[in-house]
Amino acid sequence: MNEIAERESGIEAFRKTLASPVIFVPTMGALHDGHAALISKARQISASVVVSVFINPLQFDSSSDLEKYPVSHEADRKIAELAGAKFIWIPSYDEVYPGEIQKISAGPLGKIFEGDSRDGHFDGVLTVVKRLFDSVRPDKAIFGEKDFQQLFLIKKMIKELNLKVEVISHPTVRDEDGLALSSRNTRLTSEGRMAAKVIYQALAKASTSTKPRLTLHQTLMSEPRLKIDYAEVIDERDFTIVEDGDENPHRRLIVAGWIDDVRLIDNMKIAGRSS
Ligand code: PAF
Repeated sequence: MNEIAERESGIEAFRKTLASPVIFVPTMGALHDGHAALISKARQISASVVVSVFINPLQFDSSSDLEKYPVSHEADRKIAELAGAKFIWIPSYDEVYPGEIQKISAGPLGKIFEGDSRDGHFDGVLTVVKRLFDSVRPDKAIFGEKDFQQLFLIKKMIKELNLKVEVISHPTVRDEDGLALSSRNTRLTSEGRMAAKVIYQALAKASTSTKPRLTLHQTLMSEPRLKIDYAEVIDERDFTIVEDGDENPHRRLIVAGWIDDVRLIDNMKIAGRSS
């Protein structure tokens, strides 16, 4: 196991000691097996793996959601180290935002679906990711596909700002019953956890259906505990809605909803049919 370095040395000083390529895994902490998979993937590419843990206030539209976000730095260090990280960076607010914040706008695609329900969320995500990139200066950064709209908007920002960072996307890591791993899952009651598996069931069923949108809605609605926010079939290249009957090969199912007061999101690509 490598000795994990911490923030005492400061990211700037530590960055100079890292051999290329530097692979970056930005997180908000409360690390779980999903994050560990991203870090392990990074470690397969390079020994220079940097993990950041920063709960970014800019991406929360409600102070209660921010306050409820779990903090577990001790456990995070262990998980990051075991998965192969070389450096865990747990910056303060002032380290990330030392002066006036240069906000980045996610544009119209940042205002739909997750962005419609969480005002300013994606502007906050892009702003912090850019700031973290400026400090870590990674060659590659790894993001999970679970936050598909986030992944899409980060790739778009990198292209638009001509940043020299390659994004690697990692498939969603799931529990045995299919529930996508998320730091929020720990807030589910045992009944809520049972109910949550309907999201994966609905995605799996809809992804092989000839009427994916209908199947998605019908299956989700079979679970009374789930309050659906959105459940759609989109073209994953531009987030436009694809109606049932359209055999567009770029379709992806996206879902968000609440179980009790816990917001859960997930998505799945619809595999193209061979004719
Ligand atoms: O996906 C997350 O954990 C966060 O949105 C990210 C990318 C670390 C930015 O705060």
